[in-house]
Amino acid sequence: MGLYGEQILPRVVNCACGLKSVAPLRRRVCEGLEGDVVEIGFGSGHNVPFYPQAVTRVAAIEPAEVGWKLAEKRLRATSVPVQRSGLDGQSLPFEDDSFDAALSTWTMCTIPDIAAALAELRRVLKPGGTLHFLEHGLAPDEGVRRWQHRLEPMQKRIFGGCHLTRPVVDLLTAAGFTIAEVDVFYEEGSPKFLGADSLGAAVSP
Ligand SMILES: C[S@@+](CC[C@H](N)C(=O)[O-])C[C@H]1O[C@@H](n2cnc3c(N)ncnc32)[C@H](O)[C@@H]1O
Repeated sequence: MGLYGEQILPRVVNCACGLKSVAPLRRRVCEGLEGDVVEIGFGSGHNVPFYPQAVTRVAAIEPAEVGWKLAEKRLRATSVPVQRSGLDGQSLPFEDDSFDAALSTWTMCTIPDIAAALAELRRVLKPGGTLHFLEHGLAPDEGVRRWQHRLEPMQKRIFGGCHLTRPVVDLLTAAGFTIAEVDVFYEEGSPKFLGADSLGAAVSP
């Protein structure tokens, strides 16, 4: 991956994802998580402070070594057991039906084969298990979408393969999830092409 991908990008992502302004969104997406949880694209653990007490353990999936190191202080401060359990959301090292819930925040944009990753989440979630998601993707407005298509090639090069135009809800539905709730909005303080967010919960049948 090279120096940029291994050392610099995870630090840039840590700063961008660590903005205080997104804390209320993290709190909302983590609400209602309980039992054994798998989190894909754990990054540097910015969701850790928001795990509810009802979470019994978290299996964290994250390829970036630096991201994991940057998570240390958040991991020391939580009483929820968190274990780094895998490197790739496209291939999860777990038995079928092992988790009560899953969590993904601003990660579905980056995983190369997102359909494979969602199929893996379906496989490892127990029937009725819920995927809590907070993702940026294809904007609701045509004018913003045109800019997303123009800027996506540059975004992918700079941000490790991050797509701007993934239709989050459609991808979840195509993977067989049932959307239980979703809120689609532009994130405050973010340019619209980057901040077209979907926050919600999707149930694995
Ligand atoms: C924009 S960051 C979001 C990090 C974190 N979820 C957050 O909200 O702060 C996207 C994360 O996805 C991770 N990622 C990239 N490819 C992945 C893959 N194939 N499987 C799992 N995670 C991946 C990246 O290393 C990065 O940490």
